[in-house]
Amino acid sequence: MTQHNDVLFAYWVPNVSGGLVVSDIEQRTDWSYDYNVRLAQTAEQNGFAYALTQIRFTAGYGAENQHESVSFSQGLLAKTEKLKVIAAIFPGPWKPVLAAKQLATIDHLSQGRIAINVVSGWFKGEFDAIGEEWPEHDQRYARSEEFIRSLKGIWTQDHFSFQGRYYQFSDYTLKPKPVQHPHIEIFQGGSSRAARDMAARVSDWYFTNGNTVEELKKQIDDIREKAKAHQRQVQIGVNAFIIARDTEQEAQAVLQEIIAKANIPAVHAFGDATREAGASTTEGEGNWAKSTFEDLVQYNDGFKTNLIGTPEQIAQRIIELKQVGVDLILSGFLHFIEEVEYFGAKVLPLVRELETQQRVQAKSA
Ligand SMILES: Cc1cc2nc3c(=O)[nH]c(=O)nc-3n(C[C@H](O)[C@H](O)[C@H](O)COP(=O)(O)O)c2cc1C
Repeated sequence: MTQHNDVLFAYWVPNVSGGLVVSDIEQRTDWSYDYNVRLAQTAEQNGFAYALTQIRFTAGYGAENQHESVSFSQGLLAKTEKLKVIAAIFPGPWKPVLAAKQLATIDHLSQGRIAINVVSGWFKGEFDAIGEEWPEHDQRYARSEEFIRSLKGIWTQDHFSFQGRYYQFSDYTLKPKPVQHPHIEIFQGGSSRAARDMAARVSDWYFTNGNTVEELKKQIDDIREKAKAHQRQVQIGVNAFIIARDTEQEAQAVLQEIIAKANIPAVHAFGDATREAGASTTEGEGNWAKSTFEDLVQYNDGFKTNLIGTPEQIAQRIIELKQVGVDLILSGFLHFIEEVEYFGAKVLPLVRELETQQRVQAKSA
């Protein structure tokens, strides 16, 4: 049974081809709908609360094919019972009124199980290819913030008007409103100062790339302090590429093989494209600002979180992440279905055991 302050688990939906690592290592992971339905059902039976779809319009870092995120999310919701599916959406191609309407309908179809991940974009080539405007980094967040404020207004108010720099509409009433109250959960992805400021002001959840416990603590303290100034609370989700094996040697060998078989040109091309993201900002603190070649082989720095080892080691590290304020682990795996099963059988029970011990200790202290 999950208790109210237990750490939650999400997984990346492989709705783009190539898996979660830019490597030629064998991956028993598939981007097809059939595979993803089986994965979603396996995940909800193994203690995962959320699944996160990805949005990409063009190929890159080995992802030759990309299924669209909102329709794919709805496809997974139709075949599951408990899982919440977070659909990635770009302000730009999506306008807030359309997104609000589309997600409100899916919220009804799924009995309140859709969520949104507002992504601000890092790949200029993609926006150029689809003929979308590409504001500079911090302006992309200004646009995303307007997008989120618009969604919240439309989902919670009648006769809602918005006059922003990027979006303007007046006296709009959405019917039916979503099932979820006060509104559909809003996640966002990104780690730069602009991302953190936006999270503090408007988002329910802040999703960040993989990182060390120390670096994550800095980000979390910053967001929580800023959110407090706005009388708000923000929950934190962290990416991790999980390699759980019976022995530490086996897990480390898998990591080494992934890196040794990296698709070098694709990793370099990805690294070049990420210069449009947080590294380009004056503070240089965003996603990929400090990533090495090895880090980029998992395209959201998932090795850095170091959930690589035995179930005991991983469970212990998850507790350390929880202690600095992480609420959710967003996980990727090499062979998704079989590793989600292994995680549910071997790692998750240990995490829950450690959490129970901590609650008992806290009570008796
Ligand atoms: C968990 C997570 C999920 C993301 N999903 C997507 C996605 O599906 N599509 C996309 O283009 N960018 C995605 N991004 C990228 C972000 O929207 C953002 O462009 C990037 O993290 C750079 O942000 P920064 O400059 O604020 O650090 C994601 C980021 C994170 C952390």
